[in-house]
Amino acid sequence: MNVECTPGPYQEVDTQALAVAVFKDEKADGGLLKDLDTASEGVVKSVIDSEEFKGKEGETAYLHLRPAGGLKVQRLLLIGVGEKAEYHVARVSEFAGTAARFLRGKNVKSIAVVPRLEGDAELIAASVVEGAIIGLFEIDKYRTSDKEQKVIDRLVIVVDGADKDALTRGVKRGQIVGESVNFTRDMANEPGAYLTPTNMAERAQEIASEFNLSIDVLDEARMQKEGMGSLLSVSRGSDEPAKLIILKYTPAKPTKDNGQLLALVGKGITFDSGGISLKPGENMELMKYDMTGGATVLGAMRAIAQLKPSIPVLGVAPCSENLPSGKATKPGDVVRAMTGKTIEVINTDAEGRLILADAIAYAKKLGATRIIDMATLTGAVSIALGDVNAAVLGTDQELINEIIAAGKEVGEKFWQLPLDKEYSKQIKSDIADIKNVGGRKAGTITAAAFLKEFADGVAWAHLDIAGTAWGDEAKPYRSKGPTGIAVRTLINIVNRASRE
Ligand code: BES
Ligand code: ZN
Ligand code: ZN
Repeated sequence: MNVECTPGPYQEVDTQALAVAVFKDEKADGGLLKDLDTASEGVVKSVIDSEEFKGKEGETAYLHLRPAGGLKVQRLLLIGVGEKAEYHVARVSEFAGTAARFLRGKNVKSIAVVPRLEGDAELIAASVVEGAIIGLFEIDKYRTSDKEQKVIDRLVIVVDGADKDALTRGVKRGQIVGESVNFTRDMANEPGAYLTPTNMAERAQEIASEFNLSIDVLDEARMQKEGMGSLLSVSRGSDEPAKLIILKYTPAKPTKDNGQLLALVGKGITFDSGGISLKPGENMELMKYDMTGGATVLGAMRAIAQLKPSIPVLGVAPCSENLPSGKATKPGDVVRAMTGKTIEVINTDAEGRLILADAIAYAKKLGATRIIDMATLTGAVSIALGDVNAAVLGTDQELINEIIAAGKEVGEKFWQLPLDKEYSKQIKSDIADIKNVGGRKAGTITAAAFLKEFADGVAWAHLDIAGTAWGDEAKPYRSKGPTGIAVRTLINIVNRASRE
C-alpha cells in the first residue's frame, strides 16, 4: 500500500473514495459536513436527520456522489467516531482501520481519509497508517478459496494545514508500528506444527539480521548449564527442544546512560496441551496462541530496532511446547529453578509461570533493572476482566502507572489487580519452597505472586493477556483472531522513556 499525505484541501484529493470522521450527534448544518452535504446534493443531511447515522463509534454510512457536486471523489464514507471530547489518536487508528476494511470490502483501490483530529500531525498520520495496516490484516493465510483478494493500493491522509515533513515522519512511524503489530499477530495465528520453538528462534534471527539487533539463542544444553530446571521441566514432554531467545537493542549514541536496562519478557509456549494435566479437547486448538507473549516481545523489538530510541532494550522469549509423553514432568514432581528455588509442580498446565521464572532470572543476570513480562497466563483473567482489559500486576507502582498511561495513549486497556503479600500464602508448598498453582481463588493474582518470587531486586510488572490476545469476533477496525495487544503499548513505553 502506497501512502501519501497532504495538508489538504480534501476537495482536491483524487482517490476513488473519501472517508470522513463524524462526531456523535454532529449535524450537517455547518463546517465540513455542510460542505459534504452540498457535494452530495443534500444526501449527507438527509442521512443524518433521518437518524440512521448518529456518529456513534464504528457506525458507517456509505454514499455514491454525482460528479456535479464539486468533489473529485465519487464515493463518500462517513464513519462515526463518538464524542468529540473523547476523540484522540487511539480512536483515529480505529477510524482508519474501519475506513480501510470497509472500503476494501467495496473493492475500492485508492482511498483518502480525513481523521479530523487537531494536534500533533506526526502522531495523527502515524495513527492513521498504523490503524489502516492493522485493519487490513486477515487470518486467511492458509485458505486456498474465499481468501481476501481485494487490495487497497493507495492511501491518502488529509490533515488540514499540517506540516508536510511531520506527516511524512508520521507515515514512516505508523508503517513500522502497524507492520510490527501484524508480525506479532501473524505469529500468534501460526499452527503449532509450523511455529515450534526452533521456528520462533529462526524468526527472531531474521528480524535480528534485518534490523540489526544482537541475538543469542540458548539451547537446552546451555539452559542446563545455567540451572534452568524450571524452564526445562516444561519441554521434557516434547520432541521439540526449548529455546530461550535473547534480543538486544543498543542505541548508537545513548543520550542518557543512567544504568537502567528495560527488559521485555514474553511467554512463548508454541502449543499448550496442558501436559500430563491434559486440557479438555474443546477449544484446545486455540492453544497455538499461547506464545503470544513471546511474539509480542519479538514484534515490539522489531519496531524498536527501526524507531531507534535512545534507551537500550532487552527482549527475552522463553519458548517451549507443553506436551504429555513418557518423559513429561508429572504432577508432584519437584524442579529447581535457576535462582535455586525449588518448585512443586502441582499442575503441569500451569507451565507459563515455570518458563517465565527462569527467563526473568536470566534477564536479571543480563543486567535488567526494569522488567515487564507478558503472557497468556491464566484463564482466570478472562473471568475477571473479559476481553476488554488486560491485567497488570507488579511490584513497582511507577512502572505499572507508566504501562496504564502508555496503553491509554494507544487505545490498549490495562487494569491493575492487587498483589498483596497475603496471596503468596496460596503458593506455599508442603515439600518445596513454592508450588506452581495456588488453588481456585484469585488465579491471575497467584500466578503473578509466583512470578514475583523471581523478580525481586528489580522494578517489575506483569501483563496477563490471556483474555485479550485473541478476538472471538471481528471488529469494524480489525479482523477476528490475534489482536496484537500490548505491542503498541510497549513501543510507546520505550518511546516515552526515550524522550524523557
Ligand atoms: N495457557 C493457559 C492459559 C490460557 C487459558 C490462555 C485460556 C489463553 C486462554 C495456561 O497455561 C493455563 O493453562 N493456565 C491454567 C492455570 C491453572 C492450571 C492454575 C488455567 O488458567 O486454567
Ligand atoms: Zn497451561
Ligand atoms: Zn499456557
